[in-house]
Amino acid sequence: MIYSNRIWISGADGRLGSKLVEMLNPVDVEILATDKDTVDVSVSSEVINFADRNRPDYIINCSAITDAGRCEEDNDEAFRTNGLGARNMAVAANRINAKLIHLSSDDVFDGMAEFPYKEYDETKPKSCYGKSKLFGEKQVMSFCSRYFIIRSSWIYGAKYRRVEEIIEKAKNGEDILVPTNQFAAPTSAKELAKFIIYIMETTEYGIYHAVCQGSCSRKEFAEKILEFKGLEANVIETEDIVDASFRPDYSVLDDFILRITGNYEMPQWEEALEEYINTIK
Ligand SMILES: NC(=O)c1ccc[n+]([C@@H]2O[C@H](COP(=O)([O-])OP(=O)(O)OC[C@H]3O[C@@H](n4cnc5c(N)ncnc54)[C@H](OP(=O)(O)O)[C@@H]3O)[C@@H](O)[C@H]2O)c1
Repeated sequence: MIYSNRIWISGADGRLGSKLVEMLNPVDVEILATDKDTVDVSVSSEVINFADRNRPDYIINCSAITDAGRCEEDNDEAFRTNGLGARNMAVAANRINAKLIHLSSDDVFDGMAEFPYKEYDETKPKSCYGKSKLFGEKQVMSFCSRYFIIRSSWIYGAKYRRVEEIIEKAKNGEDILVPTNQFAAPTSAKELAKFIIYIMETTEYGIYHAVCQGSCSRKEFAEKILEFKGLEANVIETEDIVDASFRPDYSVLDDFILRITGNYEMPQWEEALEEYINTIK
């Protein structure tokens, strides 16, 4: 339960942002929801003016260019939004003494590990998306004192349509194509939003990995969706999915800091997925 105050959610039209808007009870808090059309995070003056005028107590930065292919095509736009956007939010938060909750990604790692990545492991992004997200993390650490950097992976739910697309294809008797050899922890937007709402009330600042427990391949993820929905289809691995070729092969995150502090436990990915599937009509 959040007792105060005013929360600015940037990137509020996106998958996670829209789920946060839905879950934060507007009776308890005042929500300021913006997206690119209202406050472009890459424009410093827009961010500072909005923060100065509204003085939120919390800023949750969900805004980003998340399409890895689009980032490769336009590096400047990726760094402007994911890097300088993060800097602008950090400067604004510091200026008004707000807490900043900044979202980051498993793509800051190279995907070559054999064990799940912990928060302190070496970052080495291979894609422009990953590099811009890592640059954003560093900007937050440099320009803001009260921050939570939250890395997650394979977020589904809310406006994320991939789960629904798999179900639709199966119902139409189509094959389901998934990238070969990619492993991570699918994480429901709802579970991630619950964690964000919990952690932002604390003063335990720093970097967190927040993903559902366990891990799977893209193929296993698709097959589990079909199993929970009682559907059958061929799930075929392919190298021909463009966006996927920019993603790390193995990007399983370990919620190490949450585990050693005993503060919070994310559910198993299958459990969260089943709950989500049961909400789909
Ligand atoms: N989705 C995942 O699997 C995943 C995994 C790990 C981490 N994350 C991180 O989690 C956060 C939220 O992800 P998400 O999946 O909710 O992303 P999303 O659905 O792509 O939403 C991001 C939102 O930010 C908006 N945006 C883009 N440029 C902006 C700008 N200059 N100013 C303000 N808003 C802007 C986007 O608008 P447009 O759609 O018009 O561009 C979109 O509405 C991001 O930081 C992402 O990097 C996501």
